[in-house]
Amino acid sequence: MNAPLRPLKVVTVSGSLQEPSKTVSLTEHIVQTLATRLPIENHRIDIHRLGPGFTGARHPDDLPEDVLQEMRLLAEADLVIAASPVFRASYTGLFKHFFDLIEDQYALANKPVLLAATGGSDRHALVLEHQFRPLFGFFQALTVPVALYASSGDFDGLQILNPEVHARIEVAVDDIAELLRARVGAHEEAAPV
Ligand SMILES: Cc1cc2nc3c(=O)[nH]c(=O)nc-3n(C[C@H](O)[C@H](O)[C@H](O)COP(=O)(O)O)c2cc1C
Repeated sequence: MNAPLRPLKVVTVSGSLQEPSKTVSLTEHIVQTLATRLPIENHRIDIHRLGPGFTGARHPDDLPEDVLQEMRLLAEADLVIAASPVFRASYTGLFKHFFDLIEDQYALANKPVLLAATGGSDRHALVLEHQFRPLFGFFQALTVPVALYASSGDFDGLQILNPEVHARIEVAVDDIAELLRARVGAHEEAAPV
């Protein structure tokens, strides 16, 4: 039997520019499903809320303390959920700006990252593979193989109705739970008492 785990730190980054947000709805569903498998504490960073000190920053030295604190939480996470609406066949500009301003290029190295996106059309689902995954490849992050996409037709308002999206979330979450159990469990066994 597996030993009980400490609550795992999940940090969700949402690149949406609006509220309510389909992207946030997708990430909340992922987090709720993950919580049925593992003890977790989720912290969400809504990029559009970071304010003019963030949007006007050109260098990490320009960032206000509250944004630097969000970046520290990201670096300490056991799992990052990196999610954005698709804008012009990519993530939003503000989503990229946030990652551009992370000073330490190894802050996410070897860190599990689940990629997620929402778009108006199913035709842009591979944006996760062609745009999102390479960005986290730069950071040497451990992107999990199953990425999650939902398009407008999968939603009724903010509710995800398409059972195929639900099924894919289950698959992704099963993979992540197994990965996190192995990583965190092994780390805790190795830690001195
Ligand atoms: C400026 C802009 C550009 C967009 N570009 C695309 C696109 O290239 N492909 C696509 O599938 N959807 C596109 N969309 C639709 C959004 O990705 C979609 O509505 C998304 O679910 C919105 O997420 P949110 O509610 O979290 O903001 C675009 C929307 C906007 C406002």
